[in-house]
Amino acid sequence: MGEFNLHGRDFLKLLDFTPEEIEYLVELAADFKEKKKNGVLTDVYRGKNIALIFEKTSTRTRCAFEVAARDLGMGATYLDPSGSQIGKKESIADTARVLASMFDGIEYRGFEQEKVEELARYSKVPVWNGLTNEFHPTQMLADLLTIKEQFGKLKGIHLVYMGDARYNTGNSLMVVCAKMGMHFTACAPKKYWPSQQLIDTCQEIAKQTGAVIDFEEDPVNGTVGADVIYTDIWVSMGEPDSVWEERIHDLLPYRVTMDIMNNAGPDCVFMHCLPSFHDLNTTIGREIKEKYGLDEMEVTNEVFESPRSIVFREAENRMHTIKAVMYATI
Ligand code: CP
Ligand code: NVA
Repeated sequence: MGEFNLHGRDFLKLLDFTPEEIEYLVELAADFKEKKKNGVLTDVYRGKNIALIFEKTSTRTRCAFEVAARDLGMGATYLDPSGSQIGKKESIADTARVLASMFDGIEYRGFEQEKVEELARYSKVPVWNGLTNEFHPTQMLADLLTIKEQFGKLKGIHLVYMGDARYNTGNSLMVVCAKMGMHFTACAPKKYWPSQQLIDTCQEIAKQTGAVIDFEEDPVNGTVGADVIYTDIWVSMGEPDSVWEERIHDLLPYRVTMDIMNNAGPDCVFMHCLPSFHDLNTTIGREIKEKYGLDEMEVTNEVFESPRSIVFREAENRMHTIKAVMYATI
């Protein structure tokens, strides 16, 4: 593992990191995972504390930060979507300076990317992006670790993202594939492709790394030969319910089915950042069934529950990779 000094760095989006730094964080996470499995303690940051600000809800990201902090010997304070003054009674700049005086690192999940960037500008301790509308960088490290475990490498791996590729997960996957010399295909109607500006940035990166970035509207052509098929929910946190009808209409042809998996090839695996609407065991899933008659949404239950689905290892890897980010940047 190469040694990189990332101490004091913010972790806001992967565009800010070199391929070597990203690779280092993934390898560091693999090392932490191995230690955890073997019961080796890693509580080297005893006496330190972190703040977790969530302006949107979370299961994985919050738990990953809390468990990883504890494993590193740190305390964690959780501020829920209604429990802090941020934005309502206190500016981001003031919050940053208050929290940075008490904590050794700050995680922030919210809406616009600009908010987390502003928090970082005013904070003298590292700020970690736990998801914004535009990017979800900690998710990407978990995805890279999972892909590396599966295929033994990242370079050249063909990842096809099906669904709304303009949002945090789609944008971030395109960036990370460009950085790591992978092949990224956004398989979606054109209006769901990432912004031209982000595409141009990624194409520039791809020239240096040998990555391939392409776009395909046809779900069959778009998935042939894929190593990974990745999808996300069709309506993200913070979006109004009024967009469901259009999303269902536009994205139903891009649902990940067993036919799509078979079209990709026998070794293709299924990934999803989660949470997922693959059955009727959620309130929203049942509401959508009632309104639009769908039993499953972005992925069929058959694919989700199949041996080709590696979503729960991917979820576990959130913890190991977030631990690596905190360890490296504090
Ligand atoms: N994948 C992910 O970020 O999950 P949570 O919303 O549960 O944190
Ligand atoms: N695109 C999803 C990702 C959840 C982890 C959302 O923003 O809700």
